[in-house]
Amino acid sequence: MEREKLKALLDDMSLQEKIDQMLQLMGVFYQEDMEGILTGPARNMGVGEEDIRLAGSILGTYGAAKLKKLQKEYMEKQPHHIPMLFMMDVIHGMKTIFPMPLAQGATFEPELSEKCAAAAAKEAAVSGLHVTFSPMVDLVRDARWGRVMESNGEDPYLNSRFAKAQVKGFQGEDMGAPYKVCACVKHFAAYGGAEAGREYNTVELCEHTLRDFYLPSYKAGIDAGAGMVMTSFNTLNGIPASTNKWLMREILRGEMGFDGVLISDFSAILETIAHGHSADEADAAKKALEAGVDIDMMTSVYSANLRKLVEEKAVDEALIDEGVMRILELKNRLGLFENPYKDADEEEEKTVILCREHRNLAREAAGKSFVLLKNEGLLPVDTEKKIAFIGPYTNNHEIISSWAITGDASSCITIEAAAEKVFDRERTTFHPGCPVLGPKEVKGLAGFGDAKPVSVPEEEQEKMLAEAVKAAKEADLVIMPLGEHYLQSGEATSRAMIDLPEVQMRLLREVAKVNENIVVVLFNGRPLDLREVSRLAGSVLEVWFPGTEGGAAIVDALTGKVNPSGKLPMSFPYCVGQVPVHYNAYVTGRPDNMGQVRFRSKYIDIPNEPLYPFGYGLSYTQFEISPVRLDGDAVTAKKALTASVTVKNTGERAGTEVVQLYLQDIAASVVRPLKELKGFRKVELKAGEEKEVTFVIDEPMLRFLRADGTVGSEEGDFSLFIGNSSNTDNQAKFRYEA
Ligand code: BGC
Repeated sequence: MEREKLKALLDDMSLQEKIDQMLQLMGVFYQEDMEGILTGPARNMGVGEEDIRLAGSILGTYGAAKLKKLQKEYMEKQPHHIPMLFMMDVIHGMKTIFPMPLAQGATFEPELSEKCAAAAAKEAAVSGLHVTFSPMVDLVRDARWGRVMESNGEDPYLNSRFAKAQVKGFQGEDMGAPYKVCACVKHFAAYGGAEAGREYNTVELCEHTLRDFYLPSYKAGIDAGAGMVMTSFNTLNGIPASTNKWLMREILRGEMGFDGVLISDFSAILETIAHGHSADEADAAKKALEAGVDIDMMTSVYSANLRKLVEEKAVDEALIDEGVMRILELKNRLGLFENPYKDADEEEEKTVILCREHRNLAREAAGKSFVLLKNEGLLPVDTEKKIAFIGPYTNNHEIISSWAITGDASSCITIEAAAEKVFDRERTTFHPGCPVLGPKEVKGLAGFGDAKPVSVPEEEQEKMLAEAVKAAKEADLVIMPLGEHYLQSGEATSRAMIDLPEVQMRLLREVAKVNENIVVVLFNGRPLDLREVSRLAGSVLEVWFPGTEGGAAIVDALTGKVNPSGKLPMSFPYCVGQVPVHYNAYVTGRPDNMGQVRFRSKYIDIPNEPLYPFGYGLSYTQFEISPVRLDGDAVTAKKALTASVTVKNTGERAGTEVVQLYLQDIAASVVRPLKELKGFRKVELKAGEEKEVTFVIDEPMLRFLRADGTVGSEEGDFSLFIGNSSNTDNQAKFRYEA
């Protein structure tokens, strides 16, 4: 539809009709039993029958047949037959679940993430959906925060590359094209900066930390064309994001040029009252509207207050028109005025969902996301050996994460199912050894609804342990699939202790007493304290929550069919007392390498360094990276510099190395991080093969928020590092001359 027609449509709409376009309800409001809805959820929420009839979008319902019926009935009653928008959290897959986003970050392959997002979009689109609340691009530094699993990690450059790729994957060039959905970049802004890693907590960031670290990934998603942005729950420097005019009007819409639809997070506008920022609902509605929030997710703050505010002339109706116009434009970009059902198709649901192509992609992505943390020669395993798989993830389907709400754990391939096809049946045994959680942890997860984990009676646990220890004694090698419960990460799952559940540590300790050849396969949604695990196990393979094809991909990696190439997108702390710990920190005036012993910036009981740093990950082969070569000694505004290294596979099998470029601005008007990732390349090398890898360093790569508040570069000396993790010291120096 042309813009003039949209404008004419807007002009013809009544005030309430417009306000209800800004209301988003859950699908449950559209069940058959209207009487029950009106006396139940609608009454509790304060929405009337008219609002339900006119709400512009719904969230949380999918299925082609259901949504087509709903759309038809809705449009018949909507005075201008405006179609409704169907939104859902399709985070790392719809039904075919790909590795969780942090794991995707570990692939250092944004192009792969783009493919996963495109496959997810296709499954979502045929299921009738128009918008996904993804990607989540929040920068994360604190492993205590449960939502780190939804992010691509701690680095602004890596996150920006992934943000762009995922938006492109979901939307393509044109979100109205077949099998595409609108992407929603979230949560604006700095939700990952929650103090002490506690969910929904306060965020206090100075402007240069905000701008240099936290904002770039949102900007990258917006530049890639994301149709929507979601506000975050947190306050930012004292003002809740959802009513923060500076953040939304000046930064998001002004500086970043975002002209799409801004939606609040779930009840986030209402929560500004609890924050102590809005006096009441009317005040919250006014503030959020003035900040430019277009859709109120699942509260009646807008629908019950805006009309009165306009009538009293407390808010300008033009602000409502502006928001509604953006919503209509989005519906138009999706082509819904021409085809309100878009790609919803019951027949295609059968052929597209969980199809072989998507499953293969899920297996490839999972394999590439695994990070080999330690390997004392136990991996890849010799399948002729007598092997015991011992651990609660041996035959566990729940490997898709808690943010895969449309996925079914029952579609997952377990390790046991995949291993049975490859390992010698006579010489391989499988034992859970213990439940995922002991009674203490199960109790901690009370209130998680139907998804409650089960607790196993103590007597049963003892039997499981005894059987496992017996099997471990008899085996040449023990492979232990251990990990967090999937409900221990995701939203509202902050943890003060980031260890493996005690019941599993007991299993590991008992097994270690009888067999020293232990490979730990680790499932988790966040970096954990792995000191003891790393001590007891000869090899540790990090597999995150790997998704639908997880078991198959793990067996590929264990047997060497796939050579691990993942790199950590987030530092794994030495212990929780170090958190937040991230590689791109600043040097202090008294660094730990100063020679003198006492008055240094350090802990007296643990090292400063994380156990496993950002960018780290081993392979079954070895790589050698040559010293850095530069084709000059200075970068200028007009002239770039080329840095190169030769990477050689010095081992005996083919492998892939992620070669990483870091820069350090040695002296500047504002202190700069020790290292900042500025580029990476994945290099595939056969045994003995070598390749040259080059990076171009130009002036825009040197920019930052300077002391005078402007963004730009400053003259002076720089260090440049090229290596295979953030702790590389393979460096060269150059100057920047303005
Ligand atoms: C989460 C969002 C999500 C929304 C809708 C909220 O609780 O913070 O990330 O998109 O719910 O499901």
